[in-house]
Amino acid sequence: MSGAKGLPRRLADTLQAKDQRERAWETLDSLVAAVNEHDSYTGGHSGRVSRIAGDLARLLGSAPEQIAFVKQAALVHDVGKVSIPYALLRKRGALTDGEMHLVRLHPIMGASILSRMPGMDRFVTVVLHHHEHWDGSGYPSGLKEIEIPLESRIITIADAFDALRSNGPGGSGLRTEDALAELRRCSGKHFDPLLVDAMHTAYRSGLLDDTPRAIVLPQSGWSMKL
Ligand SMILES: [Fe+2]
Repeated sequence: MSGAKGLPRRLADTLQAKDQRERAWETLDSLVAAVNEHDSYTGGHSGRVSRIAGDLARLLGSAPEQIAFVKQAALVHDVGKVSIPYALLRKRGALTDGEMHLVRLHPIMGASILSRMPGMDRFVTVVLHHHEHWDGSGYPSGLKEIEIPLESRIITIADAFDALRSNGPGGSGLRTEDALAELRRCSGKHFDPLLVDAMHTAYRSGLLDDTPRAIVLPQSGWSMKL
């Protein structure tokens, strides 16, 4: 049997699937860029989470393809925020219950977006559960401990670490050692204890960015090193 342009059917199908995946990634890149632009005044959040997640997977002894998978999943983990009003993502201070409810829909929205894109099925569950907590107090499903996919647990702690270090809305602007102490304080509650240990190992190994973060004001683009 021949496919398009006389290629054997199986090869033609493989090439078509590869082409669809590449186009899906291009679309995802655009969505993630839109989220990054509005979600973080300091920028680059998804890229930093991806690097930390990859380092953690490597420290856990994961295979190269598993490391690549968790890095890709981390890049797109917040793609569902494209469905959340940008005014909410930029809001400083406490959210109302209604606003919080909306923001907490983003893992479901992200999983929904990914489930409709060719070749992205394996990312759906990981993205859906990236706000679950080790003790079962997270969302959207209240999964606990190893019920939560390992990749989701890795993204959870990498995401939280970057938020603790960041100065934008939702960030705490902590120095690295203080952010690590906060992760330790929440070990066994918010975070997988094994991954808290891995974050401290990553720090001792020089894998975590320890430089002061710039404060960037949203309107003017003016910035200042701490
Ligand atoms: Fe998120």
